[in-house]
Amino acid sequence: MNFEFTEEQLMIQQAAKDFAERELLHDVIERDAKGTFADDRIKQLAELGFLGMMTDPKYGGGGMDTISYVLAMEELSKIDSSVSVLVSVCNSLVNWGLETYGTEEQKQKYLVPLATGEKIGAFLLSEPEAGSDATRQRTTAVDKGDHYLVNGTKNWITNANCASTYLVMAQTYPEKGHKGINAFIVEKDSPGITLGPHEDKMGMRSSDTHSVMFNDVKVPKENRIGEDGFGFKFAMQTLDGGRIGIAAQALGIASGAFERSLKYAQERKAFGTEIFNHQAVAFKLADMAVKIENARNLCLKAAWLKDQKQPYGVMSAMAKQYCADIAMEVTTEAVQIHGGYGYVKEYHVERLMREAKLTQIYEGTSEIQKIVISRSLIK
Ligand code: CAA
Repeated sequence: MNFEFTEEQLMIQQAAKDFAERELLHDVIERDAKGTFADDRIKQLAELGFLGMMTDPKYGGGGMDTISYVLAMEELSKIDSSVSVLVSVCNSLVNWGLETYGTEEQKQKYLVPLATGEKIGAFLLSEPEAGSDATRQRTTAVDKGDHYLVNGTKNWITNANCASTYLVMAQTYPEKGHKGINAFIVEKDSPGITLGPHEDKMGMRSSDTHSVMFNDVKVPKENRIGEDGFGFKFAMQTLDGGRIGIAAQALGIASGAFERSLKYAQERKAFGTEIFNHQAVAFKLADMAVKIENARNLCLKAAWLKDQKQPYGVMSAMAKQYCADIAMEVTTEAVQIHGGYGYVKEYHVERLMREAKLTQIYEGTSEIQKIVISRSLIK
């Protein structure tokens, strides 16, 4: 076993850290308060290659491995998960899905501008009545010969407004259940698409989240991804990788809160000494450090398995569940260590705690990950 990173991986980690500290930190609190999306940072993310990190260079991507992606996601998420979720959705849901299952024509037309960051993508699976139970898709895609006609509503869609390219799951043969679902590439400016208002969320308030309504939207036949009825498996396989990204995001939220707490504990004095010298605080920090180390190892193992082209779905579910759950625990303790200062915006940890909560919910709740993990135990 080799736990060392390569020089290239370390360079990517440093680039993400520098970008987050230089370009995101200064207004992250204000954007969170106002729910303002950092659309002016997209060009910089594209120039740094963060929007097509793992895509093959022949399609305009950076050709990096999943370990590099995890390192970058952790650094961005220490400071701003509203931005890192955009990076995660572009890389692991949209680009990966298109690169793995798209036709050559689809890749040239849609993947290349996505991987270069010229365009942004979104992944539309969740619905008002199909969140965890993703097989119950009510959005329909009726086969009309040379095109499909799409009707329905998608909920909680990250990048809904800034994206130009949507990957949409919809039911074509309701009688076939999940085997009747298809996946499509849909251009956001197609007639019949409207967006709900920006969601006023508890955390990641400046990420671009909306519902998306489809009213008789025509989608060309050639925009279907994969065989007829492959849509549910497409979504599940794509989410296997997506969960590595969200695990790394949760890890970053936890390690960001930990770093702030460690610093604070060495500066803040109470009862005549720095609070780190009280075991009540030092032991909390020790527990946080162990959880973060475990979380990082799980994340990196899932990424390594993916890079080795070995099955990684169960490990990514383990990483997602564990990282999200410890992010909630670590950020809660971070607020506790900061006392009253932890409860106000300036010290960041209350925001990180709100962000941690979302990682236990999206791309499959912690309970969904346990379904995936527990089913694997008896196979
Ligand atoms: N890879 C390939 N195939 C898979 C698979 C995977 N990971 N998981 C399931 N399948 C296949 C099964 O083999 C089965 O196929 P067959 O019928 O041919 O055997 C089929 O899919 C149905 O599988 P299940 O019977 O396991 O389906 P289920 O109804 O029990 O649900 C589930 C499984 C894991 C709970 C799934 O519904 C799930 O993951 N739900 C959560 C959905 C989710 O994560 N949504 C997030 C939305 S995206 C998002 O949040 C993005 C964002 O904007 C940030």
